[in-house]
Amino acid sequence: MIFDGKAFKLIPLEDGIVELQFDLQGESVNKFSMQAMAELGDALDILESHPGLSGLLFSSAKEVFIVGADINEFGKVFAGGTDAVKAYNGKTNALFSRLEDLPVPTVVAINGYCLGGGMEISLACDFRILSHKAKIGLPETKLGIIPGWGGTVRLPRLAGLDVAIDWIASGKDQRPDAALRAGVADGVVAPEKLHDAAIKVLRDAISGSLPYLPRRQLKKSPLRINDTEGLLAFEGAKMFIKGQAGRHYPAPVAAVQSMQNGAKLERDAALAVETELFAELAQGPVAESLVGLFLNDQLLGKKAKSFIKSAPGEVKKAAVLGAGIMGGGIAYQSAYKGTPVVMKDIATQGLDLGMAEAAKLLNKQVTRGRIDTAKMAEVLNRIQPTLSYEGFGAVDIVVEAVVENPNIKHAVLTEVEKHLSDTAVLCSNTSTISIDFLAEPLQRPQNFCGMHFFNPVHAMPLVEVIRGTHTSDSAVATTVAYASALGKKPVVVKDCPGFLVNRVLFPYFAGFAMLLRDGADFQKVDKVMERWGWPMGPAYLLDVVGIDTGVHAESVMAEGFPDRMGKSFKAASDVLFEAGRLGQKNEKGFYNYAPDKKGKPQKVPTEESYELLKPHCAALRDFTDEDIIARMMIPMVTEMARCLEEGIVASVAEADMALVYGLGFPPFRGGVFRWIDQAGAKVIAEMASSCETLGPLYQLTPGLQKIVETGQTYYPKAEV
Ligand SMILES: NC(=O)c1ccc[n+]([C@@H]2O[C@H](COP(=O)([O-])OP(=O)(O)OC[C@H]3O[C@@H](n4cnc5c(N)ncnc54)[C@H](O)[C@@H]3O)[C@@H](O)[C@H]2O)c1
Repeated sequence: MIFDGKAFKLIPLEDGIVELQFDLQGESVNKFSMQAMAELGDALDILESHPGLSGLLFSSAKEVFIVGADINEFGKVFAGGTDAVKAYNGKTNALFSRLEDLPVPTVVAINGYCLGGGMEISLACDFRILSHKAKIGLPETKLGIIPGWGGTVRLPRLAGLDVAIDWIASGKDQRPDAALRAGVADGVVAPEKLHDAAIKVLRDAISGSLPYLPRRQLKKSPLRINDTEGLLAFEGAKMFIKGQAGRHYPAPVAAVQSMQNGAKLERDAALAVETELFAELAQGPVAESLVGLFLNDQLLGKKAKSFIKSAPGEVKKAAVLGAGIMGGGIAYQSAYKGTPVVMKDIATQGLDLGMAEAAKLLNKQVTRGRIDTAKMAEVLNRIQPTLSYEGFGAVDIVVEAVVENPNIKHAVLTEVEKHLSDTAVLCSNTSTISIDFLAEPLQRPQNFCGMHFFNPVHAMPLVEVIRGTHTSDSAVATTVAYASALGKKPVVVKDCPGFLVNRVLFPYFAGFAMLLRDGADFQKVDKVMERWGWPMGPAYLLDVVGIDTGVHAESVMAEGFPDRMGKSFKAASDVLFEAGRLGQKNEKGFYNYAPDKKGKPQKVPTEESYELLKPHCAALRDFTDEDIIARMMIPMVTEMARCLEEGIVASVAEADMALVYGLGFPPFRGGVFRWIDQAGAKVIAEMASSCETLGPLYQLTPGLQKIVETGQTYYPKAEV
């Protein structure tokens, strides 16, 4: 061993070849922490003066090759300001360029995930050999930044502009075959052959039969593209990407700009250009939000893992009650992810619909080439439709998803409990009804909790796991484990009407109802909130959820929190509901709906709803965008703060993730608490006081008031 550090080893192989092996101690994956970087510098010092060095093999001793920079360190680096960020990137670029400039050929053997900085160091090597199991990519734009360690410089020079723009702007992982086609991989082999194959390429390069210097030169020279071609390609790409990413996400366009600004420059000057743009984005709120979401997501993952560890056992078999929209969706997801599931309904028609829905989703996957028909049959076979309780004695968990009616739910839950083993967990997918209330007639309330999915189940990542007063730790752990096995992001919350997500969504709808009552145009409100970043405005969202569902849930919330959510006027939703306008489901809500060429319902504005609303609302008048945003968002803010203060949700991180994963809260804003921090609690307080006559939903909670007075933030400020 030439060098044996905490992250890197230098292992002498035959004939002057040295292996630089990355194996970060105490971590399951390799990542470029500052400490690892410093050690890479030590290893390069040794290599540069190593007598008889003939070639370098770069490898990983872990299953994952390198996941990239240590994102936990970003907060500290970014908080240091532009110069600190530039110094951080400059240091790394110097290391990677030293690797690229070694006087011997270099080959990297990529065995698993090779992302971000991992891919960037690989691009600094002369040749890249990938295992079939490898995945490579530059996901930085998803974090609101651009690749900052040479990705926008070396990738276009190596693979061409089209590939570089596509890979970097999308941030997607790429499979080995795509890397080979793009010229990023020089070979793809079976995992067990990776080491030998990489050594073979290295020996060919050492012997001169595979020239490596022209390749190196290509990466260090200006981009080979003429001015006219370049102008067309860059300007066209920026326009297209801007349209796709939207105005709230500047990083993908900045990545193309970096390639453009550096196109005529040699490597080092082009790297400096990239660093400039990186530093600018790193200082912006979007990067702060998106990096924050990444770290919050890691926290959710850690919490889920610790629940899974404490669960009494794996969920080997599950059951759902009700084969409707939600029950059918849960059964599909369970079967698709490998847990067999019994699906019970009271009507054959319901079961047929549930199975048809699963088949439709699977057919789509087959058409897209993601699965074959054999896999489709295997998944469908894992769903056992039934009208009886046969087989329920053998299931580990049951999710009740029958109609949202407390009496029916009580009847169904007490009935199913009789057929379950003493240890089976029973959950309800209720949207609003208190878990403690539902547990009242149960024999084993300790085995009961909420498991709240979002519609459509296969697409929405969040599952709220609701702990009732009597729910045992092991029931929560089993439910979290099952949600994780379904590929979902579980957030554990305490019981209350609406739990976390609906409890903060309905105040937002209450703000909307008051706006319409006072003469706002719902189309304008939709436009303003969509521009603010929501995937759909409140009127459109209510149409999609179902006006009837909205009205019903709103009454449950009003009963639960009469002081804040009870109302003394007829809301627009009530008017539409009474007129039989139920939303997208019957093609009439705030908007009318007509199927497009693909059969997807498209909204069409209609005078009919305006006419219906007229007698119940003030005459239409203009509200400024600021007014609309304040009146819509402050109720959500105050209710979120209240949920945190009451311990309904354990942390600001989980609260923000629940809204992003459950409601599509604009990711670039990072969640409600991140938004408060970024806008400044004082500004939020001013927004609230501008609407204080609208009632208690616009009053700051004691905790939020304290944040305003002390100048604190919800997220800890990063220390430099
Ligand atoms: N639809 C949503 O967007 C959504 C989202 C989250 C949670 N939820 C909740 O999920 C639950 C189900 O909602 P849905 O939209 O799937 O309803 P749905 O009307 O589509 O389906 C309900 C199904 O339950 C069946 N059913 C009724 N009584 C039954 C019984 N005794 N035993 C077995 N099956 C029975 C019905 O035949 C029907 O197939 C509700 O509690 C709802 O609040 C719905």
